[in-house]
Amino acid sequence: GHLKIPSDKCLDSTLNLLMEGYLFISNRCRKYNSDVFITRMMGKKIICMTGEDCAELFYNNRLFTRKKALPKRIQKTLFGMNAIQSMDGKNHRHRKKLFLSITKPDKIDELNDIVKKLWEAYAKEWENKSIVLFDEAAALHCRAACIWAGIPISKEDAKILAKDLSAMIDAFGAIGPRYLKGRLARIRTECKMEKLITELRNGKKYVPEDSAIYKIAYYKDPNGRLLDSKTAGIELINILRPITAIATYITFGALALLRYPDCKEKLIKGELNYSHMFAQEIRRFYPFAPFLGAKVRDNFIFNNYFFKKGTLVFLDVYGTNHDSRIWEIPNTFFPERFTFMDGNPYDFIPQGGGDPAKGHRCPGEWIVITLLKTGMEFIAKHLSYVVPPQDLSISLRRMPAIPKSRFIMSKVRYRP
Ligand code: HEM
Repeated sequence: GHLKIPSDKCLDSTLNLLMEGYLFISNRCRKYNSDVFITRMMGKKIICMTGEDCAELFYNNRLFTRKKALPKRIQKTLFGMNAIQSMDGKNHRHRKKLFLSITKPDKIDELNDIVKKLWEAYAKEWENKSIVLFDEAAALHCRAACIWAGIPISKEDAKILAKDLSAMIDAFGAIGPRYLKGRLARIRTECKMEKLITELRNGKKYVPEDSAIYKIAYYKDPNGRLLDSKTAGIELINILRPITAIATYITFGALALLRYPDCKEKLIKGELNYSHMFAQEIRRFYPFAPFLGAKVRDNFIFNNYFFKKGTLVFLDVYGTNHDSRIWEIPNTFFPERFTFMDGNPYDFIPQGGGDPAKGHRCPGEWIVITLLKTGMEFIAKHLSYVVPPQDLSISLRRMPAIPKSRFIMSKVRYRP
């Protein structure tokens, strides 16, 4: 016989999830003194789980599937319908190779060079002005991503596209107007990207063969077929959107520079590896992905608990990155914790766990680490600014989380 998984008393915890946000899973794990519990949302049972062992379980492809695991409302805003996030097995691994070829180390260096130049160019225009760091960083990273991906666009167009890409992300934990804004942004952007793919395929455009748009436009699935132009556009967005999303971590990073001045000193001094550790701690400490979902592929037993075929399972990303069994003083911002560890595949999971080539782990982690280092070093070493009174609080109820004022900087000066 197996043990009964602790069950959440509430009849439907959809509202509790909206109320508790990033802490929804860890609050209940503490209450039931268990890494695993069952809850119900929209009339369906959901198994929630946290910690390193559960992360390893979650990334076992034989036990879990992503097919039909993502709610349509998330696909219609954040990810796009029928994209890589909801694929499995051989087809998934094949599509994943495409993404991993786009994010190879030499391509990351190219992107990093573009981003460095844009920080300088944008900073010159901020001189003596007031800026909202999140908006500027989103536009900057969006423009860099487009140039790098083979679709150069003007500064004005990058700003508009960045707004749409940010709105898709901003919608994932939202209901009402914020959700609707994300949906409209996706509809608009998918149209634009589909058009770009079609123009390229019709020979109306020339782009380098190692650019992201070329690789996506001419990618052939295991059956030797091209992606339809809509799907190709969606996968192109799956590159542009998350690079733009690095603005969220840049904003958290600027907050860390403000709150922890000694970290800023060390970053400026440029001690060996410090900027890397600083970037890692930003990814661990601040909330971004709250949890991930997958479905039980076939009945199995884990720790004497029965997992029934077809059950939706949530893995607690935020809680695992704050798990006191893995992290000492988890709620303290402390980059030096990464001196002797850099995370194993299942204990440090801000962008998912396991092996990116075999499972769904994010293929963009080295892009994020690299561009976050570049951005934080630039801000610490080359910008002086005043942080005027504003609401920098981060609500863990709001998904995605962001400092409320999105970090306003005034009297910005660029020091080459
Ligand atoms: C998947 C986080 C940046 C491309 C994921 C996943 C997370 C994540 C949590 C899901 C893992 C899973 O389902 O198991 C983030 C965060 C980023 C970021 C917080 C910071 C901005 C990037 C970048 C790229 C990227 C820069 C590419 C240029 C992707 C793709 C997937 C993915 C294509 C789907 C992978 C798959 O389903 O196999 N990311 N990511 N991400 N990410 Fe990222």
